Amino acid sequence: MAIQYVMAREVKEGMCVAQNICDDKARILIMRGQRLGHHHIVRMRKFGISGVFIDPDHGEKVVPPSRTEIRKLCEKVLTSSCEKLTQEFAAKKVTLDRKAITDCTDNLVEALMKAKKPLVTLLDIDTGSDRLMQHSVNTAVLATVLAIDLRVPEEMIKQLAVGMLFHDVGTIFFPEELMKKKTPPTADEVCLLRRHTLLGFEHLVRSDAISPIAANVVFRHHEMMNGSGYPEGVASNRLTTLMRIASVVETYDSLTSSRFGIPAVLPDVAITFIINHVNTLFAREVVLSLCKRIAIYPKGTAVQLSTGERGVVAGVLPTAPTRPIVLIQIDRTRRALKSPLIVDLSQERDYRIVRSAASIEALSREGDAAVAPVQVNPLYATLG
Ligand SMILES: [Fe+2]
Repeated sequence: MAIQYVMAREVKEGMCVAQNICDDKARILIMRGQRLGHHHIVRMRKFGISGVFIDPDHGEKVVPPSRTEIRKLCEKVLTSSCEKLTQEFAAKKVTLDRKAITDCTDNLVEALMKAKKPLVTLLDIDTGSDRLMQHSVNTAVLATVLAIDLRVPEEMIKQLAVGMLFHDVGTIFFPEELMKKKTPPTADEVCLLRRHTLLGFEHLVRSDAISPIAANVVFRHHEMMNGSGYPEGVASNRLTTLMRIASVVETYDSLTSSRFGIPAVLPDVAITFIINHVNTLFAREVVLSLCKRIAIYPKGTAVQLSTGERGVVAGVLPTAPTRPIVLIQIDRTRRALKSPLIVDLSQERDYRIVRSAASIEALSREGDAAVAPVQVNPLYATLG
């Protein structure tokens, strides 16, 4: 759809600005690519802006995976299911609420299908939930988005969402000390942790609350394309699209979260690791979809450009996830700028990002000597 001019009185929250909005001194008030929030609309009125160019193709599409009612509902269902699973551990029959499970995951899938081609960022989630809850819902969101992108039938996407919500449920049967350990697991602990796929599968099948398709996602979410995964080490010819999606999103969210004292890596590092293992560990079509649908440089990421300038990502256009809009704060001679410069990398093709960090301070602290890429240990990447 073509870019439209919308009068200020008619703009709505969620609309995407197609051109920079400037004041009468040509200072940028709202950047191109910004989705309008309430405060932006108030600001426009304060500065007497009469109207804006809106990009209808990019409005209201970024997935807000955090703090939503659907997310809370998924966490609630998972929490009560985990309680039942542990309480009825010794019983032959576990009774999970099948309707509650399908209701919450159906809601999640339907909301994401309505969003159409969303760009997902999982880094800014701070729900106050524990690691299992966050990871389970994160992966359900991301897997659903990739499955939509890969045109998986809706009914299968719903099975995938259930499988992802429960994929790590087997870990609740491990000692709390192990799961809360602040140092990387030993070889014996790795062997034990790897049993979570089988444990989760067995208990869920016994509960009769999830379908065999969803249960098989739980069982096989750590299998790899070349047969090097677990629990059975089967290769690509026995891995369905749902299982292939599961292993990619599980790895991505595990790498970008800190676990067992292993620090989280930034999205670009996680994506690079996954790309480097296309066809050996991960399915090409799923990785391509991940690259399109994840915000590789989420808002707030500090980046160094090929020019030596450093700044912070201010926004990402869904059409150019690897080329964000950057607010330059440090110039190429390492001097702090009095007012930041805006560089839209989707337009400025001569610039490229050479490294990223959680903050400008971290970039400066690391200095130029730290340009060496962060190494990811494959053992820990496919652990959780
Ligand atoms: Fe897992």
